[in-house]
Amino acid sequence: MSPRKLTVWLTGLSGSGKSTLARELLAQRLFAGEQVAVLDGDVLRAGLCKDLGFSTADRHENIRRVAEVARLMNDAGVTVICALISPLRADRQMARQIIGREAFVEVHVAASLEACERRDPKGLYKKARAGQIPMFTGIDSPYEEPESPDLVLDTDEQTLGDSVLRLLAVVQGRRSA
Ligand code: ADX
Repeated sequence: MSPRKLTVWLTGLSGSGKSTLARELLAQRLFAGEQVAVLDGDVLRAGLCKDLGFSTADRHENIRRVAEVARLMNDAGVTVICALISPLRADRQMARQIIGREAFVEVHVAASLEACERRDPKGLYKKARAGQIPMFTGIDSPYEEPESPDLVLDTDEQTLGDSVLRLLAVVQGRRSA
């Protein structure tokens, strides 16, 4: 039997580079010969999770649903890259349990709040500071950093190419473990 497929779980602030990293992993076809799917928070919230907002309970449900989908995809032989803020440790722990600890690779995409706010690719931090988006992660809603992730990517300092290579090294290490 082939080994179980992995779910690479990218957690970090809005604007930290999770989606960019996920897209780059796909674009570079680094998972050669494998089927790979990206589950991105912004995309899922336009469909599967469009009934959910950003309260603690709704984020919990968002993460639960995405983890269940990732689990099904892994079982069907697909490697999965999830890009979700997933701000609370308890919710990421739930995702780990749903997906299975041997399949779950936790990656902290660790750009600082200052850098994310400076970049502000979607203009959301500006709106959040102006009080137009309540419960915005990092502003008036918490982000709990992972305590022992499989990998921390400092996207303030590293190039995208460096991040991709480091991530692949961790994935390969897990596969040969
Ligand atoms: S999570 O907290 O439930 O994991 P998720 O990753 O799905 O969040 O969605 C985050 C995206 O939703 C952000 O990148 C941003 O575009 C958008 N967004 C809208 N409102 C908020 C908010 N209050 N907090 C964080 N992100 C928000």
